Amino acid sequence: MSNRQTLAHALPSWSALKAHQEQLRPRHLRDLFATDPGRVAAMSLEVEGIYADYSKHRATPETLRLLVALANESGLRQRIDAMFRGERINVTEDRAVLHTALRAPRGSVVQVGGVNVVPGVHEVLDRMAAFAERVRSGAWKGHTGKAIRAVVNIGIGGSDLGPVMAYEALRHYSRRDLVFRFVSNVDGTDFSEAVLDLDPEETLFIVSSKTFTTLETMANARSARAWSLARLKAEKAVARHFVAVSTNAEEVAKFGIDTSNMFGFWDWVGGRYSMDSAIGLSTMLAVGPERFREMLDGFHAMDEHFRTAPFERNLPVLMGLLGLWYVDFFGAETAAVLPYDQYLKRFPAYLQQLTMESNGKRVSLDGQELPYPTGAIYWGEPGTNGQHSFYQLLHQGTRLVPCDFIAFLKPLNSLGRHHDLLLANVFAQSEALAFGKTPEELRAAGVPEPLVPHRTFDGNRPSTTLVLERLTPRALGALVALYEHIVFTQGTVWGLNSFDQWGVELGKVLASRIIPELEGGPEAGHDASTAGLIRRAVASKGLA
Ligand code: F6P
Repeated sequence: MSNRQTLAHALPSWSALKAHQEQLRPRHLRDLFATDPGRVAAMSLEVEGIYADYSKHRATPETLRLLVALANESGLRQRIDAMFRGERINVTEDRAVLHTALRAPRGSVVQVGGVNVVPGVHEVLDRMAAFAERVRSGAWKGHTGKAIRAVVNIGIGGSDLGPVMAYEALRHYSRRDLVFRFVSNVDGTDFSEAVLDLDPEETLFIVSSKTFTTLETMANARSARAWSLARLKAEKAVARHFVAVSTNAEEVAKFGIDTSNMFGFWDWVGGRYSMDSAIGLSTMLAVGPERFREMLDGFHAMDEHFRTAPFERNLPVLMGLLGLWYVDFFGAETAAVLPYDQYLKRFPAYLQQLTMESNGKRVSLDGQELPYPTGAIYWGEPGTNGQHSFYQLLHQGTRLVPCDFIAFLKPLNSLGRHHDLLLANVFAQSEALAFGKTPEELRAAGVPEPLVPHRTFDGNRPSTTLVLERLTPRALGALVALYEHIVFTQGTVWGLNSFDQWGVELGKVLASRIIPELEGGPEAGHDASTAGLIRRAVASKGLA
């Protein structure tokens, strides 16, 4: 029994935080700001080009002190060191967790099982760069001698969300004479629509799959091959129009892709932590090797901050702890991510996999049921669109939704007053959430009494505002690494494994039993509801 992992709620600082929360709960942000003129200075930080203002949280410097104590008592320092040292901290899959090695500078040393992995990382980056240059310059020719004009990434989950997000985020820097498409869904519509206006002679497919066994990706890859060969007519055309990104050379070869056209990575890179590995090949094709390397530099700078900064001044640690504060002490179930930049439109979707596949867990590392809530539901949309949609609930609903606002001081597309209007909106939203509007203020402004309750904004709704200079590849890298390490901080305090994803398995297994039934096979035995649904689908195909 004595070897059982100590869970967070049994730590001294957890009880201290509970008592502290009871004292703090009735206090309003208006009051916290009025009584502490040094609040913004004490509760803001500038790290690697990201200015973070977390003063609009229902927290005080004392809260942060207690949260940092919780991180210390949870062994966060030791866990960070263990991750960066390449220890096998993904215990349920017996793997190291080393996405940080993907952005380690050339010449640095990161050992896994006594082997320095950094030279291998750079060898793949160099091969990717050489390939990207050939495609971008037109030197790489398709089967009929034409240059590549369209790149289609086929992948799902971490093999899709990172590439799409990064492509959209860095579109400003991308080659406009190349078309990029991303196919993920097994719904045939996704592939059909993606290639509708493309020419097979000028199209390159990147089949991105860590395992190279994922049902959706393999189905789309097979359809892509059929689509290409229907026009190109020769099996050897596959070598000019298909490349693979995978850890599984054997399956890549079985599929018919020449393994010299394969870009590898390693089992110590989790799918949702892989956008800076070879999985980022589409990103590199879009923005070029130099910009890709700038992005890696941004990742690395944030890694170094996370690894070395004291927790009191460590942005991922503080943001991770503040997120956990609401989940475990205020009962918040969700967290909103609200980028005020159209190029970051897929950032919330990317973060959903990163955060929820990582920390959506109900047992500890040693398998104990966790007696407290873990991973929040992440969601969001780019501002200002969300303001005209769901912000009503954020401002006046009954739920507490901590928000992360992300803004850039300089626009990438300067257009009249647009950027001032955008920035005014993001600043106004966090102000309105925090300070609200009181009934007294409304009455003083002459609002009729029956409308006063409807027009009152309670305020006291927490948010962090992240302000960056400009959306560059480096800024994107730093931002993504920030969230990766927020996830790690939270997973560590919760005592769970942020790096496995057993929760996606059961549905996959059950689907593989149902597929033959939909294709005319015998019934496999299901509950009455599922059996009824399958029968209905079979009948509609005329098979029953
Ligand atoms: O959804 C489960 C998952 O394993 C993710 O973790 C992963 O990103 C995705 O499937 C795709 O996996 P692969 O890259 O092996 O095709």
